[in-house]
Amino acid sequence: MLTTQQPVLRRFWYPVIPLENLLNGPQSFTLLEQPLVLWLDQNGKPAALADRCCHRSAQLSKGTIKNGCVRCPYHGWEFDGNGSCTTVPQLDPNTAIPKTYRVTAFQCVERYGYVWVCLDDHPLQPIPDIPQFADPNFRFIHEFYEPWKVGGLRAIENSFDSAHGHFVHASSWGDQSNPQPPPIDEVTETDFGFVMQHWLEVLNPDLQKKNLGIAAEKTIRTNERTWYMPFARTLRIQYPNGLEHLIFTAYTPIDDQHSQVIQFCLRNDTEAEAKAADIIAFDRQVTLEDRVILEGTDYDAPLSLSEEQHMASDRPGILMRRRLAKLLRDHGEVEQRRSDLSQKRLVAPIEKPV
Ligand code: FES
Ligand code: CO
Repeated sequence: MLTTQQPVLRRFWYPVIPLENLLNGPQSFTLLEQPLVLWLDQNGKPAALADRCCHRSAQLSKGTIKNGCVRCPYHGWEFDGNGSCTTVPQLDPNTAIPKTYRVTAFQCVERYGYVWVCLDDHPLQPIPDIPQFADPNFRFIHEFYEPWKVGGLRAIENSFDSAHGHFVHASSWGDQSNPQPPPIDEVTETDFGFVMQHWLEVLNPDLQKKNLGIAAEKTIRTNERTWYMPFARTLRIQYPNGLEHLIFTAYTPIDDQHSQVIQFCLRNDTEAEAKAADIIAFDRQVTLEDRVILEGTDYDAPLSLSEEQHMASDRPGILMRRRLAKLLRDHGEVEQRRSDLSQKRLVAPIEKPV
């Protein structure tokens, strides 16, 4: 599936940038190949416009902020958060600014310390609800904000793949003496994706022992994974000592081949019990292990199940492909593939789920 070629994927909310980055002036981000300028408007709220001035196409993100409006770096026109031009310095002050002087505005809100954007006026789902964020027993740790050369579906599927850990994460927590993935207990489909649970016995390396407050060489991890269509998830991990982590990860689609990895963590322990820097260091190691493999995969992951081989533990990924295929069908879209495959694809409709 070529993410940028499926218009329905514009109807989801995506986190795009930490809110605090906007304190440094206008910022750029490309979402589904749509260049955006983001800044804080006159009310201190984030705003998102197409990053292209309607005068001579200069990038507004290279401009400055004046009275809550973004000012184009080329001739100084200013635009508010709705995309209306509020100032044209070259115009006689008594002349009205033509209504056509405007730039496309997109829906934009702050949540969990990030700016979220939806490129369509009618989002299909709300922003994921994460109650731990407001729970005073949990602390917030910002972990990662970086682009990877990986397609969104490959990345999100990997987050639900319980068979790779003992190999890819052999140096962090995997246990190759025990390669059988745990059975997936239960999958509950939701409007926005699904929730699945399983438990896992994992090695507890030295790097992790103090982070978890567990001295044993192995520990049991109960995982609850929630998929938020199309490319976000939460992973809620519970340990026998009552420790709970909630890791939120989004692979925000920059284009077909690149995703912005956004990850934060909420935990019910204290900085004295586990230093945020140590937690980030461990998760960094794990994440980089995934990155090396994922950046070598084909970004154009097929929704059709006949092009790749599968095993029992691939059930989450298979479910994602079926749900995404249904999403496309429900919105009258055909899965788009790289040009060398698209002809074949366009004449062969996506298989129906069984
Ligand atoms: Fe933006 Fe001229 S290009 S004001
Ligand atoms: Co992994």
